[in-house]
Amino acid sequence: MAVSDERNLLAQDLHDSIAQSLAFLNLQAQLLEDSLRRCDMSEARDTLAQIRDGIQESYDNVRELLVHFRTRIKQEDIELTIRSSLERFESQTGIRTSCKVSGTGVPLSAEQQLQVLHILQEALSNVRKHSGATLVELQMQRDRSYVFRVRDNGHGFDPAALGDATGRHVGLRIMRERARRIGGQIRIDSRAGHGSELTLTLPITQQAAA
Ligand SMILES: Nc1ncnc2c1ncn2[C@@H]1O[C@H](COP(=O)(O)OP(=O)(O)O)[C@@H](O)[C@H]1O
Ligand SMILES: [Mg+2]
Repeated sequence: MAVSDERNLLAQDLHDSIAQSLAFLNLQAQLLEDSLRRCDMSEARDTLAQIRDGIQESYDNVRELLVHFRTRIKQEDIELTIRSSLERFESQTGIRTSCKVSGTGVPLSAEQQLQVLHILQEALSNVRKHSGATLVELQMQRDRSYVFRVRDNGHGFDPAALGDATGRHVGLRIMRERARRIGGQIRIDSRAGHGSELTLTLPITQQAAA
């Protein structure tokens, strides 16, 4: 992928998670100002609590994005990188993780590895932000195609109900775009109350593995 395309995707990510939080915080700050002017201390305290939560959320998002920016193509096996991402995720979120790897496919190209890692990071980010899960399982099968699966035991959602994401919620769209660029596909299985499962399937051609 061209460097400028990669920058575009990261810029969208940034816009999605940071700009919106700042707009929200701006609004909350105005509300706080209003309450103080009216000497409504109880409302001021509530708003301040919301502002603190908002700042914490933004901070988590920025920290996560910085990790994404730092993701570089290393020559080591993708399995090691995935395992250390999961360890970090577990210690930062308190959500338990497990990792199952099977099969012996040819190694992925550097470009494929990078896109796969970005996709998995966004999937984990969604588990942290939206699922309420206590456990996330990652599976990697490498055979004639690679299959990556991220399953959580959270409250699930209805992907069809999200509609056409214009502006908000670009995470899933960027994941699909990244998958498409390396010839892969993403499927989401989720139902309210039954957790969520994201599957990335990546056919391996000799060319792609070169
Ligand atoms: N693992 C998950 N569990 C519950 N809901 C999810 C999960 N993944 C995604 N969602 C839902 O899908 C929406 C879209 O996700 P995404 O496109 O990544 O946008 P964002 O994370 O910025 O909200 C989320 O806002 C959330 O409602
Ligand atoms: Mg997201």
